[in-house]
Amino acid sequence: MSASISGAAVVAGVVGSPVRHSLSPLIHNAWIAAAGLDAAYVPFAPAEARFADFVNGLRGGAVRGLNVTLPFKEQALALADRASDRAWDAGAANLLVFEHDGQVFADNTDGLGLLAAFAEQAPRFDPTAAPVVILGAGGAARGAAAAFKAAGAPEVRIVNRTPARAEAICEALGERAEAFPLERAAAAFAGAGAVINATSAGLSGDGGLDVPLAATPETAVVMDMVYKPLRTGFLQAAAALGRPSVDGLAMLIGQAVPSFEAFFGAAPPAGVDVRALALKTLGDVERI
Ligand code: ATR
Repeated sequence: MSASISGAAVVAGVVGSPVRHSLSPLIHNAWIAAAGLDAAYVPFAPAEARFADFVNGLRGGAVRGLNVTLPFKEQALALADRASDRAWDAGAANLLVFEHDGQVFADNTDGLGLLAAFAEQAPRFDPTAAPVVILGAGGAARGAAAAFKAAGAPEVRIVNRTPARAEAICEALGERAEAFPLERAAAAFAGAGAVINATSAGLSGDGGLDVPLAATPETAVVMDMVYKPLRTGFLQAAAALGRPSVDGLAMLIGQAVPSFEAFFGAAPPAGVDVRALALKTLGDVERI
């Protein structure tokens, strides 16, 4: 939040349920303050059953835009009047912009965030060089698959516990996509350029994913979308094998950059270490 908010301040925010632990207010308000903008970025946690009322109420124009997090991403896309191709491809929106005429525009910057995270933490990774493996077949996996296909991946392999869900994503992706059951993860890993965990395994304390990462080539980049903890069991297994890795916090910050531009009309100011701020909040500083 800027040092002083006037009556003309631009308001944006993040909506989720729960939203209490979102790092987005911290990130956006740090950028707002550094840029000296007359703006605020606030959290919203509407009743889940009344999400549509909440969004439609904002057609009045009070709020410039919203980031959308769980469990509202699919609903956000459905409620919008217009949407970007990348939101349609992902089947979900993480960004809503409220236009002057009351229309709602849906976008999805998660894919950009994912690719930005790879560019930052695994700069030698080339998405066009080898198949990309995605673990999971929910909304996060679908968005990742669409992003890598758009980035020119020669093949996208979807590995999932429930094979029918992986097959459904592959069908939507069209050619250059193949579905694998979790038991055949080793076959999917063979020759892969990257492996991305887009499952929710481990989030609810269920022990996480146990997959044979050793079957990946030595150069394969391993990424986990989960960032609490930052060094997930999955990334620790990758590190033990010496694989390069990319973490979920880089993706979170990566998706925030184009969101900030959509809200405030300018790129985030340079020189703000939002990663350090986020790590402090996560309590992970000494573990990096
Ligand atoms: P989101 O939309 O956030 O991606 P989701 O639709 O609930 O979330 O999807 C969660 C993903 O994690 C699914 O691919 C799920 O596998 P199933 O399709 O078989 O349910 C996967 N997942 C969750 N817990 C898992 C576990 N313990 N082992 C393997 N996969 C798991």
